[in-house]
Amino acid sequence: MAFKTILSNMLIKKSPDELIAVSKKSELKKTLNVFDLIVIGIGAVVGTGIFTIIGSAIQGGPEGVGAGPAIIISMVLAAIACVFSALCYSEIAAMIPVAGSAYTYTYATMGEFMAWMVGWILMLEYAIGNITVACAWTGYLAQFLKGFKHILPHFVTNFPLWLRNDYRYMFAFCDKYGLDPHSQMPFIFDKIPVAINLPAMFIVLVLTLLLIRGVKESTRVASIMVGINMFMIISFIVVGSFYVKPENWVPFAPNGFEGVFMGAFLIFFAYIGFDAISTTAEETENPQRDLPIAILGTLILCTVLYVLVALVLTGTVPLHHIDTQAPIAHAMRMIGKDWFAGLLSVGALCALTSVLLIYQLGTTRILYAMSRDRFLPKSLRLIHRKYRTPHVLTWISGIVVIICALFMDLSISAELCNFGTFTSFIIICIAVLILRKTDPDRLRPFKVPFSPLFPILGIITCGGLMVYSMKFLTTSSLYFPLWLLIGLLIYAGYGYNQKRLEEKAKLMRSAKIMKLDKVEK
Ligand code: ALA
Repeated sequence: MAFKTILSNMLIKKSPDELIAVSKKSELKKTLNVFDLIVIGIGAVVGTGIFTIIGSAIQGGPEGVGAGPAIIISMVLAAIACVFSALCYSEIAAMIPVAGSAYTYTYATMGEFMAWMVGWILMLEYAIGNITVACAWTGYLAQFLKGFKHILPHFVTNFPLWLRNDYRYMFAFCDKYGLDPHSQMPFIFDKIPVAINLPAMFIVLVLTLLLIRGVKESTRVASIMVGINMFMIISFIVVGSFYVKPENWVPFAPNGFEGVFMGAFLIFFAYIGFDAISTTAEETENPQRDLPIAILGTLILCTVLYVLVALVLTGTVPLHHIDTQAPIAHAMRMIGKDWFAGLLSVGALCALTSVLLIYQLGTTRILYAMSRDRFLPKSLRLIHRKYRTPHVLTWISGIVVIICALFMDLSISAELCNFGTFTSFIIICIAVLILRKTDPDRLRPFKVPFSPLFPILGIITCGGLMVYSMKFLTTSSLYFPLWLLIGLLIYAGYGYNQKRLEEKAKLMRSAKIMKLDKVEK
């Protein structure tokens, strides 16, 4: 194929009208209101970040120093990076309420190739991010069960390590304590180690089945989880505030700017998720009004809660005693409230379950939009006859997370998720700038204020945090370009597959007819 044809294919765009016309034929049910959307937002945002990662962001770890009590500055920094992108998401989501989030918006502004790459990058945020959450879920389950050691059998409260961790962890564990791996886990033919994260696999399987059952049913479950976890977080703030000792806030920033910036990069994971709201645009009753309210509302609410949690946590526990596994529950143990620590584990389990649920939902909706654009074979976008959900894609995303949970390293998956999300946020800011130039007259039910300043600030803050952290995170900063390269190779292989090109041409013809129909009417 001539270079010119390849290039024009790569740059081919879909106009917002085309995207909206195709989405109008969508078989997805429109059932979500603003309350459902905020539940999706909080459900996707509040999770591993505030229940687990906050500990390492305050204390530091092998890959970087901690922020100390200045974590509240890190949180505000991370929130600022998010707010510019949230405004941009709101503008585009209200203007083009189509499934697929950043992927779809890129198709409308930067063309097919960039759209594919963004879809591929979003898989880092959603599917790879979910591996981190699934494994953290196992950790909290084990902690919760330990609370019942006097009631439940020993096997349940202390189930074997090889049934709740991956083989890498098992080898590292044996190495650390000088144990023979053969004494800690079974080996097939004496050679292949068997170590599986059974609870993580189980929860992803259950949620996959729930998602196939229906989006409304799924958000109903998520709203119960969100209710419980909000109650727990607010109780932590209220109970903990009576035990705050201001002297624990000194020194405020023990590692200066470096700690604050590293903290902002790590805690960014806690904010990821508000963009998941836009993936359900096609299932929203009144997207133009409800999407911006839900996106910005979620972000503001979570920032306020996070800062309060951080103030109470760093105020009740002296800096060097803050736990990095389950810091919130541990803080309650430190003030002698063991029973409350147990309840907080329930809150954490609910929070992590809702994140998993919504991320699985987001993954399938992005893949659905990509398959509609013929990036994935037709058979994958089948809609379930009874439940009207994309069941094949839901199964595939569930199975991918289950398989990856068998061998992927937790911190690497969290860092990769952050890199993926920063990139998609930057692209959304660029997309707003492009659409303001190329389509200035289109109705914008919501507009980013002070454009182009705010989108540019979004690019600078997200890009700055990403580049700064790359200095320290050596492994994931190598895997990230590798992920991009794999995406590029897939595009080069499948993107120019003859069958795909024919199907795409057919699709574009029918979208044009639909657009003409609309104009004539
Ligand atoms: N923000 C989500 C969490 O913290 C990804 O788990």
